[in-house]
Amino acid sequence: MSSKTFDEDHIANKLSLFFDRYKSKIITFPKEKGWMTDELYMYQGFWFQSARMFSIMTVMAAQDDFKPHPSDIYLATQPKCGTTWLKSLVFAIVNRNRYQNENHPLLSTNPHKLVPNIETEVVEKIPTYAEGHSPRLFFTHLPCISLPPSILDFGCRIVYMCRDPKDVLVSLFHFANKLRGTSTGPMTVEEAFEKFTKGITPHGPYWEHVKGYRKASLENPSKILFLTYENMKSDTENNVKNLADFLGYPFTEEENSRGVMEEIVSLCSFEKLSAANKHGDLGRGLPNSAFFRQGNVGDSINYLTPEMIQILDDITNKEFHGLDISF
Ligand code: A3P
Repeated sequence: MSSKTFDEDHIANKLSLFFDRYKSKIITFPKEKGWMTDELYMYQGFWFQSARMFSIMTVMAAQDDFKPHPSDIYLATQPKCGTTWLKSLVFAIVNRNRYQNENHPLLSTNPHKLVPNIETEVVEKIPTYAEGHSPRLFFTHLPCISLPPSILDFGCRIVYMCRDPKDVLVSLFHFANKLRGTSTGPMTVEEAFEKFTKGITPHGPYWEHVKGYRKASLENPSKILFLTYENMKSDTENNVKNLADFLGYPFTEEENSRGVMEEIVSLCSFEKLSAANKHGDLGRGLPNSAFFRQGNVGDSINYLTPEMIQILDDITNKEFHGLDISF
């Protein structure tokens, strides 16, 4: 008798179905050596992983199979821009009347399990994926241009968070080295820097991804909120207040007098979440603890040379010129 669960069987069947559906297209895409997977494939101007979560197959399947609702809320980032933090904050804001602090799901469950990714578990579980209550809260690493079109056509609310590319590069370098198999061996900082500056990262080029959402948010600020990790770190409380207003869940006077917003900030702090995620895993070789390293701004200075920093800053200044993005 098989020891696999119904879900595991269902997902395995779905993945093989996606493989059959898309393989003839995928083999025609440009490819490069990956950070955590054998390959990255270029699709619609961006690089996607050959396997693991957010693979090229499930990205294409999400575009074909996922059905957005107008009331959905989407969170979007590139890896290592503060996804885990953003998921926890938005989950806590939207669900604050459902859970008490002492038995809050964030104290026992990884934020990645609480806010599902459309291009991984959601698309893999269609049609058995539980619809949940409204608004549905989803996450994606998809670039703006690759979102299922109805997300933008319906005017769904989207929260995008980006981060200083120097810190993203260093965070991704550490993350990749934690997850790379022993046969591949660790990456060097030099290798990571070269790939990153060429735009070859999962869901990259980094700058193109940010620009897509930034331009969309400037055109439609009431539907697309653009945040930076650095600003969220330096003024978490004001950002959380703005986030709640944008999502349609503003804090009431009565909640303000009870300090509800401050409780959410504390619940989602690096210290609280990293302590709650010391053990356990998300499956697929992803330990919960891998999403918590330092949670600081500016750690890249400890890994990149002054020349590397200058090159990255020059690219960023050129690419983001006129877009009012600062870190
Ligand atoms: P560092 O590697 O620089 O420490 P993502 O969630 O997109 O994978 O990003 C991971 C980065 O966010 C890591 O950065 C991690 O430490 C940091 N992080 C995780 N939880 C956080 C939190 N609650 N507050 C601030 N930063 C957090």
